[in-house]
Amino acid sequence: MDERLEGARKALRHAHSIAVLTGAGISAESGIPTFRGPDSLWQNYRPEELATPQAFARNPQLVWEWYDWRRGLIAAAAPNPGHHALVTLAERAQELTLITQNVDGLHDRAGSSGVLKVHGDIWDLRCMNCRRVVRDTRVPLPELPPRCACGGMLRPGVVWFGESLPQDVWAAAETAVSRSDVFLVVGTSAVVYPAAGLIDLARDSGVVVIEVNIADTTYSRSVDFALHGPSAAVLPALL
Ligand code: OAD
Repeated sequence: MDERLEGARKALRHAHSIAVLTGAGISAESGIPTFRGPDSLWQNYRPEELATPQAFARNPQLVWEWYDWRRGLIAAAAPNPGHHALVTLAERAQELTLITQNVDGLHDRAGSSGVLKVHGDIWDLRCMNCRRVVRDTRVPLPELPPRCACGGMLRPGVVWFGESLPQDVWAAAETAVSRSDVFLVVGTSAVVYPAAGLIDLARDSGVVVIEVNIADTTYSRSVDFALHGPSAAVLPALL
């Protein structure tokens, strides 16, 4: 591990341009459950059963109750040393693009700016009728499902299974990864596409890939440096 950590450190130090992809694992130590794993269940539903347009059409109340519960957990949580380490890394780097699959906003709260949120933001609500996006950070929401001023039903401003990613954000993420010297992948199971495809893009573009995860993923064997351990400890150690 020490050798790998040292190698990864060196790669980061010499990089002109760094891209970072984070997943639910970076927020795990803030107390926010990940999507896959023993703590991920809510009232016996799996996230895959709730995070779909079909589930929302069938039962918006149920889906909103799940999001309202998650908003409560996130509001009570704070960024951890992993989030803070990425702020420091951005300050030191010549160029750094932070891409996250997380909708929790903890990178923003830690002080990261210009975060590319490829799966949206749980604090944004989007009207199903007039398409307007409203920011609402109230916890719990006073009415479920919440309503827009136009009378339409609001939905969480996140990307669900089967939906497209926000095009401009995704394009910026692909550009940043393909142009980077080092791609740091933190706390993601890397099974949800297209986000996980950024790792393939990095490898195809000859980018050095560093993975930080408590467990092995399908990419661990093929990345340049696989660092095992909790991101709240490994990321500060990398700096
Ligand atoms: P997952 O729940 O699939 O994976 C979390 C990953 O974090 C796993 O690989 C864990 O081993 C790792 N992990 C857990 N605790 C960690 C820690 N303390 N330090 C480092 N790693 C840790 O979450 P994602 O990969 O983010 O999509 O899931 C991808 C997408 O699937 C999410 O964005 C969400 C979900 O459905 C949408 O909402 C569209």
